[in-house]
Amino acid sequence: MQLLTSSIGRKILMAITGLFMVLFVIVHLLGNSSVFAGPGGLNAYAEHLHSMPLPIIAAFRAVMLVVICVHIWFGIQLTIENSGGRPQQYAVKATQKATFASENMIWTGLLLLAFIVYHLLQFTFRVTPDVAAFAGQVPGNVFGMVVTSFKNFFVTFIYAAAMVTLFLHLSHGVQSFFQTLGWNNDRVQPGITKAGTLVALVLFLGFVAIPLTIFAGILKG
Ligand code: HEM
Repeated sequence: MQLLTSSIGRKILMAITGLFMVLFVIVHLLGNSSVFAGPGGLNAYAEHLHSMPLPIIAAFRAVMLVVICVHIWFGIQLTIENSGGRPQQYAVKATQKATFASENMIWTGLLLLAFIVYHLLQFTFRVTPDVAAFAGQVPGNVFGMVVTSFKNFFVTFIYAAAMVTLFLHLSHGVQSFFQTLGWNNDRVQPGITKAGTLVALVLFLGFVAIPLTIFAGILKG
């Protein structure tokens, strides 16, 4: 119960749910990178995911939903608390410089939420106009759907902007995870900062390569 009522408890819950989402995003990028193997690659990956037993898919989606809701709820609470001028509680204190990313976590987080809603409406529920031809086919030609979408400038732009937002959110989020759990001090802090930036950069480059190579006509349907 103290986990829910104390500031450090809420930060720990944010760290755990954040870690869960980072792991999901890493696995999602590894799976999505099969797009570079052509239609056979991504479509086989989508077939594999959809062939999993329904209870497993449903349980995974329910856990993801709870994880996202907990992360957002406590993120909003912490932002309100911190704006009240109370000192931040971390397990171990270490000097951490305020950066654009660290000062705008709530905004990059809310923008990512908007992106996830759009992304689900597009590629999971297939109700956006760009994927109208693929509606109702599950999973169907996922490669064709993704390539069709990213031929559109606005869709590619939304994804590129969302991936910059993901980079900003993770570059601070990863190091904040270590600070919350007290796994940092002034000696290791520079290394943790670099590691956080590196994780965020690899994810950014990996994801953004998909819409950009398709839009540029390098990856064709
Ligand atoms: C270029 C970037 C991305 C591409 C091409 C992409 C592609 C896809 C596709 C095709 C699906 C539907 C899979 C299917 O039902 O067969 C999907 C689902 C999903 N994506 Fe992405 N994705 C990208 C980035 C992201 C990012 C950055 C996030 C999170 C921040 C994300 C979160 C999700 C989630 C939560 C689902 C639903 C998973 C489920 O069905 O349970 N995606 N994505």
